[in-house]
Amino acid sequence: MHKKLAAAQIANAALRESRNDRWYPGFHLAAPAGWINDPNGLSFFRGRYHAFFQHHPYSTAWGPMHWGHVSSENLVTWKRHPLALAPSLAEDSGGVYSGSAVTGADGKLYVYYTGNRWKNPENRDEGNVQVQCLATSDDGSVFDKKGTIIAENGLENFRDPKVFSYENTWYMVLGATGENGRGQVHLYTSPDMLTWEFDRVLYEDPRDDVFMLECPDLFELNGHWVLAFCPERPAPVGYRNRNTHNAGYVVGQWAPGEAFEAFTDYRQIDWGHNFYAPQTFETKDRRPAIFGWMGSFGIPTASHTEGDGWSGQLTVPRELRLTEDLKLTNYPLAELEQLRQETHDFGSFTLGANEDLVLLQDSDTYDIELEVDLSATGSERVCLELMKTAAGNRVLVGYDSFVSCIFVDRRLAGYGDRGYRAAPYPGGQKLSLRVLVDRGSVEVFINGGLESVSSLTFPAAGARSLVLTSESGSIAVEALKVHTLDGIWEDPTER
Ligand code: FRU
Repeated sequence: MHKKLAAAQIANAALRESRNDRWYPGFHLAAPAGWINDPNGLSFFRGRYHAFFQHHPYSTAWGPMHWGHVSSENLVTWKRHPLALAPSLAEDSGGVYSGSAVTGADGKLYVYYTGNRWKNPENRDEGNVQVQCLATSDDGSVFDKKGTIIAENGLENFRDPKVFSYENTWYMVLGATGENGRGQVHLYTSPDMLTWEFDRVLYEDPRDDVFMLECPDLFELNGHWVLAFCPERPAPVGYRNRNTHNAGYVVGQWAPGEAFEAFTDYRQIDWGHNFYAPQTFETKDRRPAIFGWMGSFGIPTASHTEGDGWSGQLTVPRELRLTEDLKLTNYPLAELEQLRQETHDFGSFTLGANEDLVLLQDSDTYDIELEVDLSATGSERVCLELMKTAAGNRVLVGYDSFVSCIFVDRRLAGYGDRGYRAAPYPGGQKLSLRVLVDRGSVEVFINGGLESVSSLTFPAAGARSLVLTSESGSIAVEALKVHTLDGIWEDPTER
């Protein structure tokens, strides 16, 4: 093992010793200790799914980027691997930034990433140089760095290669700040995975205030092309763009050798506090899937500020679909149902006006399936109180009939940043909510994933109950099940 990797591994193990698990995820991927951001190199290679991630193994703050590594046979249970990549070349001395992984004709795993170098490591304000690098691996775990494959082009922001093959050619999309200061996606092509040529500026964000498009991703779905990216930084409007970092997409048409033509405006993928830098991949039966990062560059997580030894997690893996009206939906992969342990089936019933029904007394990892007939519901809100403690701390998730939205309200959570996020309710009389609750997060999926809201939530100490509550009217529940969930580590001592 390279000495930089070995040193980072040792430092991370030491930090792991003092990790506090009160909010550490039970069924989400997170670094064993330290900081995590973007999912990287999502791939199926030699019979296993591989998920790498941006990782600072030395502390719970962002710092020189390494790639952490986990793998899975089924996308349900996972195994930890030693760190995959550390800064070790001149061109990645300031961080092994985000990238992707594909299998080459020679059967090796090809990892493309951005090498970041600070012009003056003592003063980052002097800027950086970003180049695209390659590393290959025979086993998916141990990498051989090949150095730069796309050299510096004078653009300070030029990063996050996402590679795919289409009609016998390799393509790479990259995020950039163009010479005109606008957020752009650049397209490169390669016949052999090694030599890359600039094809064109594939997309330029029409908004004046967007200067960079991080983590672009281009994929075909239902005969259309989805271009996902993370625009920095459109101004917040209403419930939109509320975070310092938000992720979204446009849908359009593209063919090799041609320009990308967008058919839609930009839309957010998820409306919560923490969903950024998503990356797509294909399951082995060719379902398009995505992992996002739940963390924040802007607002430190409570597990960081409270000294818990870790910060951030990935979302659960979600399946993507495109609706007829070109809306990208995202919903937990069906295989996650394998994590279900005990099922509490409350059937169909009416919760009277101003009543509370305790669904769980004390659980920290569970999966809620709730269906409500809104035409027979008078309650002003259909509200779930999650992570509720005896002292009254709680996180609210629900449907607000006045403004027709689905919200997550962290005002009384316990720790960390407060605040409210909401997605527009897609409409219809049958409200269907799927809510995944982990020790420090909640992910809400509305009507089969037409919208989602994902937020980190850090509960107060004590038993955490789950309550369904009505306000000034009754709730017509058509179906309600709550499943407690198992952990995701193949070796349960792992965590
Ligand atoms: C997005 C991002 C990427 C970059 C990486 C660095 O979250 O800023 O653009 O490659 O994180 O950690």
